[in-house]
Order: sequence, then structure tokens, then C-alpha cells
Amino acid sequence: GSRYEYIQVSEPRPGVGQVTLHRPKALNALCTPLITELNAALSELNASPTIGAIVLTGSERAFAAGADIKEMAPLTFSAAYTGAFIESWSALTTAVKKPLIAAVSGHALGGGCELALMSDIIYCTSSANFGQPEIKLGTIPGAGGSQRLTRAIGKSKAMELILTGRSFTGDEAERWGVAARAFPTYEALMEGALKTAETIAAHSKVAVQAAKEVVNKSQDLPLRDGVEYERRVFHSLFGSRDQKIGMQAFAEKKKAEWSHE
Ligand code: CAA
Repeated sequence: GSRYEYIQVSEPRPGVGQVTLHRPKALNALCTPLITELNAALSELNASPTIGAIVLTGSERAFAAGADIKEMAPLTFSAAYTGAFIESWSALTTAVKKPLIAAVSGHALGGGCELALMSDIIYCTSSANFGQPEIKLGTIPGAGGSQRLTRAIGKSKAMELILTGRSFTGDEAERWGVAARAFPTYEALMEGALKTAETIAAHSKVAVQAAKEVVNKSQDLPLRDGVEYERRVFHSLFGSRDQKIGMQAFAEKKKAEWSHE
């Protein structure tokens, strides 16, 4: 049997790891043990030499309906503060160096929306139901939503969504640039996510990791520093074997056979 209670881990395509949130009775509400399992599985896939990209998904009905409200209801300030409640959720943003694609169908609310926003690429169904409804529970987003959603769609739209708690659709997410693509059906979504993951996994792992690293830096650094950071990493890739392999293969009109070094 699986080592995990709340998630499933598979390798559906060569080089592609998939983590499926699987707590169907609670619409994949993100209880602490689920997050612990998710972090363990993602770290393991990140360390696996054969994996080049990871797809994170839920079910057709729910990517994740948020943090577990039943777990949070009795929490006190001091317990949340001293226990660093929710802090471990963002572990994946530093621990996972390989591209992470969130494939979102159904509800992606509160912490579910925030988990998608922590991923590198969001794909969704047209009818996906994104939102930060925390305000309706008398609280606010606690896993980065106020920061990442605002960077993604701008202050006015983020304010409107976070202050009203209203949801937005997968089509809106695509139009606003939150999602890279919206697909008409769940099947098309999963096929699209796995195909993109396979494409990424077929590239040089060194170059892919560097590309993810520099794009992520754009979220933290001022432009001038970001451009300089990019150039430093670009220069460093002339020290990789794969840069030589890739450019030589181009000159010889051959397919590159990556060394991943
Ligand atoms: N936590 C705990 N349990 C949840 C849950 C959550 N976030 N979301 C759904 N569930 C449970 C329901 O309690 C229900 O369990 P029971 O059968 O035992 O009653 C089961 O999942 C199915 O849910 P519904 O019957 O409500 O299903 P529905 O189709 O009628 O509605 C829904 C779906 C609109 C997503 C509704 O479940 C809902 O509004 N969920 C809460 C969404 C939410 O507010 N999320 C934000 C949480 S706060 C947060 O995430 C903080 C943060 O920033 C980290």
C-alpha cells in the first residue's frame, strides 16, 4: 500500500512525477498531516534523478477547498504563533527546484488557491472555482494569497477579490494571467499538464532549474538586480556540459542528448 494517507504519488509519463491530493470526503481540505505528506513527496520527487517536472493536482471536483476549517476553528493566537501555523506550507517554494505545474479543476479556495499560486505554472479548467473566501470566515488569507495574487493580477483586482471573498473562474484566471491556460474539460486539463511536464522534463535539467530560479527571482528583486542576477546565472551556464551539447547539436542539426551536467 501507499505510505501516504492523504495524497497519491505516481510517475504517469517518463520523467514526470505527479502528486494527487486525495482527501475526497473533505474536498482535499489541507489539514496539517496532508501538508506534511505533500512536502515529503515533493522533496522526494525533487531529489529523484529521473524526475524532470512535477504535476500537482486534486480531483475533478476539487483541487483543494482550503485550509481545514475544522482544524483551525479552535486555534488560539498563541498556539498559531508559537506553532508557526501554516509556515510549513511555503516549504515547497524553496525546497522544490524542479518545475511544479498545478492542474486545477473544481474548487481552489483559500489555501487551495494559495497552493496553486505557489506553483510555477497554473493550468485549470474553464469552470475551475478560484477564490480567497477567508473574509467570509472572519479571517484573511494566511498562505501568501494577499501577496502572490496581488503580484499576479494587480492591487485593485486583488483587493476586490480578497475583501468581498467572491470567486473567479478558470477562464477569468487565464484572462488575468493567473493561469497559463484554461482547458474545456478535466481530461484535456490533465493531458495538457502532463504533456507540458513531459516537454519540460525532456530538456536539460541544469538549464531548467536555472530558468525556474531566475524567473522566480523576478518576484523578489527590483528590475536592475533581477536582470543582473539573470546575466550571472546565464554566464554560469557556460560552465555546464549541456550548453556545449545543446549548441553543438544545433550546429550539427541533431537532437541534443543531454548529460544533465
Ligand atoms: N475545511 C474542512 N472541511 C471542508 C472544507 C474546508 N476548507 N471545505 C469543504 N469541507 C468539507 C465539508 O465540511 C463537507 O464535509 P461533511 O460532509 O463532513 O459536512 C465536505 O467537505 C463536502 O463539502 P460541502 O458539503 O460543503 O460541499 P459543497 O459542494 O456543498 O460545497 C464548497 C463546496 C463551496 C467548496 C464548500 O465546501 C466550502 O465553502 N468550503 C470552504 C471553502 C473555504 O472557505 N476555504 C477557505 C478556508 S480558510 C483558508 O484556507 C485559510 C488560509 O488562507 C490558509
